[in-house]
Amino acid sequence: KISACIFDLDGVVVDTAKYHYIAWKSLANELGFDFTEEDNERLKGVSRMTSLDILLEIGGVELDEKTKLELADKKNKNYVEFILKMTPDEILPGVKDFFNELKDQGIKIALGSASKNAMTILNQLELTDYFDAVVDGTHVSNAKPDPEVFLKGAELLGVSPSECVVFEDAEAGVEAAINGNMKCVGIGSPDVLGKANIVVPGFVGFSMTQLNF
Ligand code: G6P
Ligand code: MG
Repeated sequence: KISACIFDLDGVVVDTAKYHYIAWKSLANELGFDFTEEDNERLKGVSRMTSLDILLEIGGVELDEKTKLELADKKNKNYVEFILKMTPDEILPGVKDFFNELKDQGIKIALGSASKNAMTILNQLELTDYFDAVVDGTHVSNAKPDPEVFLKGAELLGVSPSECVVFEDAEAGVEAAINGNMKCVGIGSPDVLGKANIVVPGFVGFSMTQLNF
């Protein structure tokens, strides 16, 4: 029996990767090196500070902790300028129909995101009211593939992990769901998300009837 669906945010509900990319690229350029779209793939599902470490490794730059915190903050200020301009038009296709299906069936909805900007994004998208629980980067101390973010969601909803389905676009997120003893639907390519129970390209035409676990 499925009682709850837990959604990752970036790459599942909305495509924020393009804004992260612009903000990280501009930081890399300021530091004197380039940062490509391919490099940006490596940051999906990864926390802000780990993203910065990966970026600095690409540029071959070593910095002290204080400078790193300042740079992460600078990147975030730039990123927030983009997300504050987001509108409900940017909700990925099919997501709202699927949320409405879940509401009709009495299935609970939670967010399980690494982002510290999750509430800002949900508010911009006018989706906040759909969520029965929100767990984001401000509530957890262990990054995916640790299952903490999803287990906290299940706990807040009062359901057991085995009754939850996680929707994820990042490999570390799929692993986090499995580590938490939850079912997982991968959103994206089977090459990357092969460990999920099923993988679909997106929510258009997707329905709970497709899940037979
Ligand atoms: C998500 C994104 C990552 C991002 C992380 C932290 O997991 O996929 O690319 O680095 O959230 O986001 P934040 O908004 O806190 O910088
Ligand atoms: Mg994601």
